[in-house]
Amino acid sequence: MLKDKVIIVTGAGQGIGRGIAEKLAAEGATVVVSDINETTAKETAAAIGGLGVQTDVTSPESVAAAVEQVRAQFGRIDALVNNAGWDKAGPFVESDRADWDRVVQINLYGVLNTCREVLPVMVEQGFGSVVTIASDAGRVGSSGEAVYSAAKGGVIAFTKSIARELARNTVNANVVCPGPADTALFASLGGDNPKLREALTKAIPFRRLAQPSDIANVVAFLASDEAAYVTGQTVSVSGGLTMS
Ligand SMILES: NC(=O)c1ccc[n+]([C@@H]2O[C@H](COP(=O)([O-])OP(=O)(O)OC[C@H]3O[C@@H](n4cnc5c(N)ncnc54)[C@H](O)[C@@H]3O)[C@@H](O)[C@H]2O)c1
Repeated sequence: MLKDKVIIVTGAGQGIGRGIAEKLAAEGATVVVSDINETTAKETAAAIGGLGVQTDVTSPESVAAAVEQVRAQFGRIDALVNNAGWDKAGPFVESDRADWDRVVQINLYGVLNTCREVLPVMVEQGFGSVVTIASDAGRVGSSGEAVYSAAKGGVIAFTKSIARELARNTVNANVVCPGPADTALFASLGGDNPKLREALTKAIPFRRLAQPSDIANVVAFLASDEAAYVTGQTVSVSGGLTMS
């Protein structure tokens, strides 16, 4: 489905991003595994036969250097998957402004910085796909994740606008919103508490958390030519936890 496509996946050293990188590679893509953690970026890249590039999405210079490296090596970028993200859970009324900055820098500015470098390449080529991993928190809210929800909601609105702006260049842009997924991030947000995990699992109609592969399968479709006429859409992959 993705034979010979050059696809950048941010935050692909572990978790959902790694699952996405594995799926895209299995479908025939050449995957650029970008992550702030150089060790995991290189490990994932070695496992799937891709290129590992250390990149901090909060740094415009770091992103520009990575995109230039990809352009020099492959000559084009067929798709971009904005996956890097981070959160720290807690009541908003007790929240710390330094944490707001970090959450907004990674989840919102990270997407803006990366798109600012990659979209001009896609415009010049006259084709491309952008798939951004937001969260159902950005659509329906999430207790203890107010600022993260704001950043993810921002990413959803941004993607719709980009989809409108770049349709004339045959570039599509869509959002995938995972529900609770079994990763280190989820564990750090309380998912390592067996009671919370069980309560959440019971609330999900399919009675299980998402695995990275559940998200990756949808991303692979949206990054493929089969989704060429789909743009500005937001797809929840949540086992039915959210349905509207
Ligand atoms: N796990 C969930 O329940 C869940 C639910 C909804 C949405 N999401 C979203 O899915 C995406 C992946 O989350 P995950 O659960 O796999 O998390 P994770 O913490 O397991 O992985 C995130 C990856 O992003 C990388 N990263 C962090 N900051 C970065 C930066 N500044 N530059 C580049 N890379 C950076 C990390 O090194 C890590 O490899 C995130 O956008 C997250 O918000 C996750």
